Amino acid sequence: MKKFNIGVIGCGYIAKKAHFPNIASKYNLCAVSDTDLSRAEAVKKEYGAEYVFDDYKKLLALKELDAVHICAPNYLHAPIALEALEAGKHVLVEKPVATTVKDAEAIYRKAREKKLKAMSANCFRYLTEWSILKSFIDSGRLGEIYYVNVKAMRRRGIPPHGVFTNKALQGGGPLIDIGVHQLDLAVYLLGIRDRRGSRGRSGQRSATPPATPGPSGAPGTMRIMI
Ligand SMILES: NC(=O)c1ccc[n+]([C@@H]2O[C@H](COP(=O)([O-])OP(=O)(O)OC[C@H]3O[C@@H](n4cnc5c(N)ncnc54)[C@H](O)[C@@H]3O)[C@@H](O)[C@H]2O)c1
Repeated sequence: MKKFNIGVIGCGYIAKKAHFPNIASKYNLCAVSDTDLSRAEAVKKEYGAEYVFDDYKKLLALKELDAVHICAPNYLHAPIALEALEAGKHVLVEKPVATTVKDAEAIYRKAREKKLKAMSANCFRYLTEWSILKSFIDSGRLGEIYYVNVKAMRRRGIPPHGVFTNKALQGGGPLIDIGVHQLDLAVYLLGIRDRRGSRGRSGQRSATPPATPGPSGAPGTMRIMI
């Protein structure tokens, strides 16, 4: 069977930690792109990507590419995903899929129009503990669940790399970073399709800071109720 040709846009922390080892073991890592060319070159050296670009548009122009993983900062997710779909590629977009609901809807609309797959990399739902909880919920062992209260706190502080502390490029604070994982989990675990309402709140400081704050300052908090 033909191996999928994958291109990765953004060769930073998450691409190196999560994506390259997996892609290289199962698919063909065809092309990589990063505005910092040295990062893309390093990936080529380690995983043998055929093409290396500093401009993602050149990557998207490759005819042989089947799918792209978008691992660039959040503000670029929607524009790159829309261009990739327009170029006929399936897309896996790092979370959050976009920085606004309007942009997220545009991505899924474009994917449907082009008959391609678009997916957000909300990886928490694939962890074993949540699969077990989901099997309990689905089997009815926990009864009817009608209210979810999701809380999360980064005990190790804000990641020091990338654009996490740049609100304009990140698109928000803790809610758009760790919050989308929690929200996705709640929706996934409960199989919510007809959500009647939800409320969310996020802040930049915890009311009860941990004894050992992370290296990059105050932890963020967020709370979502569905
Ligand atoms: N699923 C998870 O649990 C998880 C964990 C960490 C990060 N992420 C997500 O991954 C994304 C990247 O985060 P990161 O921690 O890897 O950040 P990072 O800063 O380490 O990596 C981003 C990379 O994108 C590159 N880049 C910037 N503009 C570009 C462009 N126009 N074209 C190509 N490359 C470009 C940067 O040079 C950098 O190498 C974010 O959306 C973040 O939310 C997800």
